[in-house]
Amino acid sequence: MSPPTADIGTAWWREAVFYEIYIRSFADSDGDGVGDLPGIRARLPYVRDLGVDAIWITPFYPSPGVDFGYDVADHVDVDPQFGTLNDFDALVADAHGLGLRVVIDVVPNHTSIEHPWFREHPEYYVWTDEPNNWLSGFGGGAWAFDEARGRHYLHLFAREQPDLDWHNPDVRAEFDRILRFWLDRGVDGMRIDVAHGLFKDPQLRDEADPAPGAEPRSWDRRAAIDRPEVHPLYREWRALAYTYEREPVLVGEVFLSEPARVADYVRPDELHLAFNFTLLWEPWDAGALRSAVDRTLAALEPVGATPTWVLENHDVVRLATRYGGTDRARAAALLLLALPGTVFLYAGQELGLDEVDLPAGARRDPVYFRTQGVRLGRDGARVPIPWERDGHALGFTTGKPWLPMPPEWAERSVAAQEGDPGSTLALYRSAIRARPAGQFGWLDSPPGVLMFERGDDVCIVNVDGEPFELPTGELVVASKPFAGAVPPAAAAWVRSR
Ligand code: GLC
Repeated sequence: MSPPTADIGTAWWREAVFYEIYIRSFADSDGDGVGDLPGIRARLPYVRDLGVDAIWITPFYPSPGVDFGYDVADHVDVDPQFGTLNDFDALVADAHGLGLRVVIDVVPNHTSIEHPWFREHPEYYVWTDEPNNWLSGFGGGAWAFDEARGRHYLHLFAREQPDLDWHNPDVRAEFDRILRFWLDRGVDGMRIDVAHGLFKDPQLRDEADPAPGAEPRSWDRRAAIDRPEVHPLYREWRALAYTYEREPVLVGEVFLSEPARVADYVRPDELHLAFNFTLLWEPWDAGALRSAVDRTLAALEPVGATPTWVLENHDVVRLATRYGGTDRARAAALLLLALPGTVFLYAGQELGLDEVDLPAGARRDPVYFRTQGVRLGRDGARVPIPWERDGHALGFTTGKPWLPMPPEWAERSVAAQEGDPGSTLALYRSAIRARPAGQFGWLDSPPGVLMFERGDDVCIVNVDGEPFELPTGELVVASKPFAGAVPPAAAAWVRSR
């Protein structure tokens, strides 16, 4: 079945703002120190007030938690630490009542080693007698020996996350059922984990060495990923999505560094959206940021896909820390929210939270342990949200937060920022409401300054240039107060006509 394409020009996800909720760290309702579904539900009015269109909730399925939920042991239930299926239904109903759509995380590349499939259906997984040279994204080799079968299984992530064999049609059929299970429950879409990685080279050939002098990102080096067989699968899933009237959205975590390769995943009959990480990988440099925007638009326009923009998620160092300062992070927010397309925010980004330098004893991420601490891992971006200024665990939990929260976050808490018009929270709220629309085009600007129009609005981002005189017009929003000229590490939107 081929999906209708006429309606997608105005589809809800085209110029939307999605808000990622890392469930463990958002809000805890029962005092076990880990966030949960009722916790999210209680905070939905806050999310609505932020002005976003949709939430994306990270995995809440039964899981041993080796990769904090990305090791799924049952795709069609809720882990007791996160609540129940009834809690999930209540959350979806409340979200819909508040005008928020709900996107869930589907993890099709691998399961937990504790998923019953691993014992009952070993043929669902990738096995070999002769491990090749593939590496795990979490450090070390990608093969582990299974005593019971006397063979090695593939794990592109932790050894407790065996990779599924998507060349097996039964795996496909299982996931059809899984997608329908949640779509029938009313979800508005799926974020597809490791969307570029499902199919592996059936011959399991060694990875080629990177070209001399080249420094490709480790993901791009893998023969194991980005294979053509994945595209017919997404055509099927797109057609499946279209059997639901509300047109659920499929968002791929296509972790490839070049937008030209990502573009193949968002052709009109494949995924609706794919994360575009180009901006996130660039330093605070006007030329680099502009080139990321240009490469993205040049790759996506020919396929008619909606560009997406991401500066934070649960896998990367928080923005303020990456860019070295709150001013830059605030200016970047205005860049992000003025670009054409769909934006993904990560809970806490709107509070300007920085990366937490956790003591070794508090770290939990398998990446930290598998690399013997060479890579610090992702815990520093997953520290729970500070809700209250005073009181136990800044209102996140009545128990002990699963990662320690810095006491100085009292001043970054939602309560502390709520009444302060100069706060980062207030900036995000007003920028989300005033997001520009219309045609995108660069305008001439001096070195270190980015300036573009979106319809009647002009966005100025002074990355590191000389103070830049504001064009005439009504000032819509500014990343910080200034008089007359936009200083470096600041941004503003002006309505010119
Ligand atoms: C994705 C997730 C990440 C997880 C990995 C393996 O990249 O965002 O958190 O560890 O997939 O599932």
